[in-house]
Amino acid sequence: MIRLFVGIELPPELRLQLSLLSGGLPGARWVDAGNLHLTLRFIGEIDEGTASDIDSALARIRSPRFSLTLAGTGCFGGDKPRLLWVGVEDNAALFQLRDRIEAALRRAGLAADTRRYSPHVTLARLDRVDRPRLQDYLSAHALFRAPPNAVEKFSLIASFLTKSGAIYEDRADYALT
Ligand code: 2AM
Repeated sequence: MIRLFVGIELPPELRLQLSLLSGGLPGARWVDAGNLHLTLRFIGEIDEGTASDIDSALARIRSPRFSLTLAGTGCFGGDKPRLLWVGVEDNAALFQLRDRIEAALRRAGLAADTRRYSPHVTLARLDRVDRPRLQDYLSAHALFRAPPNAVEKFSLIASFLTKSGAIYEDRADYALT
């Protein structure tokens, strides 16, 4: 079995810029700069045969290149903030790609992902975080906006969960046209 997701890897200069946001919030477990990425579709644990079908289905996708701009910060978890993220500016091409990936995965035999897609780059997981400090952090970074980033491919990524955190390994890249 292998744990997989489909994502967009971010260039080193963008990861460096994001890593500068990683601090000043006690109780946050910051994602390593090398692991910062945008998830398009989480797949989960599957067998190698299905992984191979998924690879073939993803390789058939034709979707245009696009520009992606990361901007703003926010939290998931409502009353119990658990995840701190950087957002993505409105992007029809990103959602179109996500829809094509979803359709390809259905053709490969996966069940539909019925959750609403909220594109984000996870900066940190939050354990016990002080609310006022979280608010201060969000206010301080509300105007964060990275330079537009040209997305020319997406990837099938394996995730290995270890005691010291997740290790991601690129399994395959798929060029955008
Ligand atoms: P997250 O960053 O918002 O937590 C690999 O685990 C990637 O898949 C992460 O970026 C994670 O998103 C995303 N993902 C989405 N749904 C997931 C789930 N149910 N379990 C683990 N990761 C998930």
